[in-house]
Amino acid sequence: MVITRRRLLGRTGLMLASGGLVAKALAAEPTMPMAMGPFYPVQKPTDADADLVQVAGRAARAAGTPIEVSGRILDRHGKPVPGARIEVWQANAAGRYAHKSDDSSVPLDPNFEGFANLTADRDGAYRYLTIEPGAYRAGDYWRAKHIHYQVDGRVNRLVTQMYFAGDQLIAQDRTLAQDLEQKVGAPVPPVIFARDLGKRPDGVSRLAFDVILIDG
Ligand SMILES: [Fe+2]
Repeated sequence: MVITRRRLLGRTGLMLASGGLVAKALAAEPTMPMAMGPFYPVQKPTDADADLVQVAGRAARAAGTPIEVSGRILDRHGKPVPGARIEVWQANAAGRYAHKSDDSSVPLDPNFEGFANLTADRDGAYRYLTIEPGAYRAGDYWRAKHIHYQVDGRVNRLVTQMYFAGDQLIAQDRTLAQDLEQKVGAPVPPVIFARDLGKRPDGVSRLAFDVILIDG
């Protein structure tokens, strides 16, 4: 099983390396559901806008490497899902969630929002500015860097996670491996990585992550 799982991870990496053309061809493959994890913010922070690096009323910005993430919410036929609600939540740059149940000794960042509640526009598009999340310990292994998503379309709700290509911790992340088990033997490998869109003029890296809901 381990070998198969590794092969799947390898294929996922390959797919990413081959670039946008392949990603486009896979656009109709529904995004795979993944673990919600223990840190979904049931208690919402007061600031939940699309700028996670700037908390309302605070002068300083979040620590870490800023990234801009954008994408589209589509159905399996490639049709946009306007009005889809996108919730994202993540650890801060040091790998800590602003969640009561995260008992890590890593410090909180009061200047980091950690959560955003977004609505897809008429093209199904969304965008937010955040920082690259830190990896964190989960028992005896590391969670690779990831951003959690919950997407509510008109018909479907999907909980998934977006990963970062080239992250050395991917291969040992057992939470991810468990999620990928459901895709072993699937004809098309799942899209789990953000696509690199290059840098903005101000140097901030731009990443893309489309979410495909079965029926939108
Ligand atoms: Fe997480």
